[in-house]
Amino acid sequence: MALSLFTKTKKAIIERAQDDYATKMRLKYKPYYHAIEAQQGTKIRLQGRDMVMLSSNDYLGLSFHPKVIEACGVAAKTWGTSTTGARPSNGSRVYHLAIEEKLAAFLGREACHISVAGYISCCSAVATFAQKGDVILADKNIHSCLWDGIRLSMATVERFSHNNPEDLRQVLKGFGHQQAKMLLVEGVYSMEGHICRLPEIAQIGEEAGCFTVLDDAHGFGVLGRQGRGTVDHFKMNDKVDLICGSLSKTLASTGGFVAGSRDLIEYLRTNSKQTIFSAAVSPSQAATASAALDAMQSEPQHLERLWKNTRRYREMLKGLGLDTWESETPAVPVVLGSKELVYRFWQALLEKNVFTVMSIAPAVPPGKDLIRTAMSAQHSEEDLEKIHAAMSYAVKQL
Ligand SMILES: Cc1ncc(COP(=O)(O)O)c(C=O)c1O
Repeated sequence: MALSLFTKTKKAIIERAQDDYATKMRLKYKPYYHAIEAQQGTKIRLQGRDMVMLSSNDYLGLSFHPKVIEACGVAAKTWGTSTTGARPSNGSRVYHLAIEEKLAAFLGREACHISVAGYISCCSAVATFAQKGDVILADKNIHSCLWDGIRLSMATVERFSHNNPEDLRQVLKGFGHQQAKMLLVEGVYSMEGHICRLPEIAQIGEEAGCFTVLDDAHGFGVLGRQGRGTVDHFKMNDKVDLICGSLSKTLASTGGFVAGSRDLIEYLRTNSKQTIFSAAVSPSQAATASAALDAMQSEPQHLERLWKNTRRYREMLKGLGLDTWESETPAVPVVLGSKELVYRFWQALLEKNVFTVMSIAPAVPPGKDLIRTAMSAQHSEEDLEKIHAAMSYAVKQL
């Protein structure tokens, strides 16, 4: 019997998607998913206009480094474009092992495992090691991938105030030493630009017998010797059990990593669903990250330039009376406090050819609605002048 138009039942999930308020607002105001027409370093073209990119995470500016681009192309010619399958079943390639060994050595760890996204690596660093009955002590402001890892682990979660060792100590009082516990922090908080108070926090965790996982997506390449990250910055390698992070920020590729002792990484390879059932990092992705890691070590000028730019940029924003949430790193928010103000400010910057991204609650705590910006070593004098002019203009539009 043919289905009549009049008897066809409505599908609740389709209705929910069609009625979704956030999607309607996004389509109306168009703040995200811009189609950038061209890019060269920090310069992009959007709707035929040349703009300065101020929201990318290309901290050391390596995504247009000639050697990095060359390595990316050579890898595809040598290995093809993809392994088209997961490593446990289709096999690793020697380039996977090579970048893993290189990253592990750089981070002062025995072993490392890479996967196709930082999101997957960081999520699996939590979901694979914590389990039902365990307790996860999590900084309130951790990234979404870590919250997903917590959910998948089915462990109980206890939040402590952002970057607050005293609160962590209080929360820990509810648990005995025998209880399996994971402490979960970021090295550099991606929205706030805060550096984790690792010496105090990791010490408290250690005393309470916590297994400590640190997501260093925004500390890697930015802090520590040659960019070894937050753990190296504080010389706390013996107090952090696992470091996870991304290949898609400083390393100018896409993918992620988890680094730790050999036992832990082999356990991850056996038990992480995100690893077992997901395709391997492609040759070009791995080669790109590997060449970027080489450049980080052989060309210190990028890190120097990044910090020089960052200091200058922070001074500029301070001079304009803007609230940068006490950011200490190249990830610099401009906190405006409401989505209306954020939208106005963001539009004003766009009008003056500076591209940024809005971050509004619930992605940030209520009242902390912000424009997320990030410095790069690639930002030139001319870029900084344009950014200054655009910021000054945007302040006047508030
Ligand atoms: C703290 C943090 N962890 C993990 C990720 C995920 O990394 P990727 O973009 O490589 O998936 C991000 C990316 O935004 C991040 O900010």
